[in-house]
Amino acid sequence: MRPTGEDDMSQSEEAWSGRLGFILAAIGSAIGLGNIWRFAYVAGENGGAVFLLVYAVCVLLIGLPVLISEFVLGHRARGDLLQAFRASGASRAWSGIGVLAILVAFLILSYYSVIAGWACRYFWVYLTGHLPSLPRETLPAAFEAFIADPIAPVAWHALFMGLSAIVVTAGVARGIERASRVLMPLLAVMVILLAGYALSLPGAEKGLAFLFTPDWSALRTPRLYIVALGQTFFSLGVAMGVMIVYAGYMRSRARFGSAALTIAASDTLFAIIVGMAIFPIVFAFGMDPAYGAALAFVTLPQVFSIMPGGAWIGTAFFFLLSAAALTSAVSLLEVPVAAARRAGVPRVPATLGLALLAFLAGVPSALGSGTWSAVRIAGKGILEAVDYAASSILLPVVGLAVVLYTGWVLPRAEALRECGLPPRWADVWLAMVRYVAPLAMVVFLLTSALG
Ligand code: TRP
Repeated sequence: MRPTGEDDMSQSEEAWSGRLGFILAAIGSAIGLGNIWRFAYVAGENGGAVFLLVYAVCVLLIGLPVLISEFVLGHRARGDLLQAFRASGASRAWSGIGVLAILVAFLILSYYSVIAGWACRYFWVYLTGHLPSLPRETLPAAFEAFIADPIAPVAWHALFMGLSAIVVTAGVARGIERASRVLMPLLAVMVILLAGYALSLPGAEKGLAFLFTPDWSALRTPRLYIVALGQTFFSLGVAMGVMIVYAGYMRSRARFGSAALTIAASDTLFAIIVGMAIFPIVFAFGMDPAYGAALAFVTLPQVFSIMPGGAWIGTAFFFLLSAAALTSAVSLLEVPVAAARRAGVPRVPATLGLALLAFLAGVPSALGSGTWSAVRIAGKGILEAVDYAASSILLPVVGLAVVLYTGWVLPRAEALRECGLPPRWADVWLAMVRYVAPLAMVVFLLTSALG
């Protein structure tokens, strides 16, 4: 036991206000850029409906078991990532996974904040009416010019990181939970309204068909599987320690199985409803959904500039994107902050210091589309390379480690007791964690590596 200094006392007192607060904060972490910006473009590039299907299978077979595993590990270790991978008799090497998770959370935060900064900037230019006044043909160049600017993307990245730091300094219940309690219901209402509007557009059926009518031949693309797997981890916000830390702020065992189901279902439903807003809009105006990462920042603004009420829709859309990103960035920041607090650093300096470091770590990503665009890593720009390394390599590695540890290292009785599932379902869960999820992950990784 470490000495109980004053800060250690408040550490043990940090907690969600209850089960609902915990679930809302976890949903806040799960719903983010991944559901809106990333989901729309990877689904667009990978065949729409078929992607959705493979993704749903990934969530059920892999995402959900991993999520419950993280809750189990987190609750056992009271959110301490370094303790989470230490069962009696487990090799010390496992603790390395906890350290890796902290580093990866920090790494993802660094570039996540850059993209979130773009979203904030677009919200601002819509709100002030600047963007809607630009002619439609100039929008792609306007986006390119903005992200290539040596100052603006860095400044918006700083602003966004600052906002995240403010929320995290306010603490677990008063900061993180409160932000989610306010923003999540608001986002749900907004996205439903947006989808309703999009579906009322003439030509909306084509967008729905794209999202829901599978073209089975796309199943033969090996890339599809790894992209769906990466998207599962990214969108649920697992394999990074966030859910381990969040479960540690839950005082009692919170029926983790049904909590995980609620979170995974909300996250997936949110992405689908966003898809039902974006694809009908894109198709109704004759645009190409497979436009890649710029779908949200170029294609949609082009549509907003010709559709009736587009300036308002644009404002609402980019508010949605920025606010969803905020509750996710906050969760990523909380991971290293929680670790620093365990090492005895009080919350406020820990948050400010780590946010500053994450800001600095993100500067290369912010400059990668302009000033430093000559820097290529494996043929990719800086931001794309960091995203690839983090989501396609490190997330699956940590995810695999989480299920292997929970399934094979943690004593079986302990896993079954902690998961808070009724006995029959607890057995199903453990079988998924032991066999189905690791096997599916290995098969998916191999398919893409060999394809
Ligand atoms: N899930 C968030 C999104 O969809 C991002 C995020 C939050 C995340 N926590 C994470 C991604 C942990 C990976 C790992 O945008």
